[in-house]
Amino acid sequence: MLPQAELHVHLEGTAPPALIARIAKRNRIELPPGMLAPDGRFHFRDFLHFLNTYDLAASVIRTSEDYRNITYEYLSNVAREGGVYVELTASPDHAALVGLDDDAHYGGIAQGIDDARRDHGIESRILVSAVRNFGPEQALRVARRAAQRPHPYIVGFSLAGDERVAPAQFAPAYEVAAAAGLGCTIHAGEWQGPSAIREALKLPVTRLDHGARASEDPTLLHELAARGMTLNVCPTSNVVLGVYRSLSEHPLPHLHGSGVRVTLGSDDPPYFGASLAGEYALCAEHFGWSEQQLREVTAAAIDAAFCDEPLKAALRERLRAH
Ligand code: HPA
Ligand code: ZN
Repeated sequence: MLPQAELHVHLEGTAPPALIARIAKRNRIELPPGMLAPDGRFHFRDFLHFLNTYDLAASVIRTSEDYRNITYEYLSNVAREGGVYVELTASPDHAALVGLDDDAHYGGIAQGIDDARRDHGIESRILVSAVRNFGPEQALRVARRAAQRPHPYIVGFSLAGDERVAPAQFAPAYEVAAAAGLGCTIHAGEWQGPSAIREALKLPVTRLDHGARASEDPTLLHELAARGMTLNVCPTSNVVLGVYRSLSEHPLPHLHGSGVRVTLGSDDPPYFGASLAGEYALCAEHFGWSEQQLREVTAAAIDAAFCDEPLKAALRERLRAH
């Protein structure tokens, strides 16, 4: 198992239906109607419906212990399949909706990270994400709180949610996050095309989550490559949500072949039937990538990670020693 690293995965989105059901039971709440399909999987028709189902599942996650368990379960599973490093996208807005403050939220996640390291040797850090459709003012509040570093595992700032809300409005939030030394990334180029990606590039970001639709514009691809931007691409997510009809239409090989740095992410794994190791396997099977190419994906993720240099050096050594 080649060592893998993941920079694009949403924490609440890692919890499978069985874990959500267990947590709901423990919290003595009913499972939200409509959350699951008759076959027991998460139910959604399209991206906005997916976001809604995600919010329903998140609404049963109520305690610091819940966040600890979700984090621990996810990292343990990733480690069993060869994962060595994950940046978990946490959403304090989701935590606040159930009454959890930053200490309880990040404290629970950090406990899961520490326990997974102890039991499985995997490392992880936290990205604080704002939700686009909650608006720029709320994003600024989230960024200000993140800038105060409520937990030492917080290394970055990101923006998720409904991509139709344009990037430029979030410039104040990104300025605050970047000024505090947080690494910055943003969801772009999943649903919106090259012009929205160009707008996102005006923010102080070094990575894009998805970025796949940059493939529609050769000049933009050239610029992404020249700037050394890293695209955290999620092929299975893109196909399941209908950005592309099939893997054979997915532009990942084109992005990679244009000299753009790419990493692989599972996004919201049980929703999409995805996993980090599965994304690596898919690149080998469908795109014919060699082990050396997959190694370069992990190396690109370590390079683009927002953790400190000593941890990066340790991760590079793990990759080299494999
Ligand atoms: N995309 C955008 N926003 C999200 C996602 C996603 O996959 N998951 C949770 N919030
Ligand atoms: Zn995402």
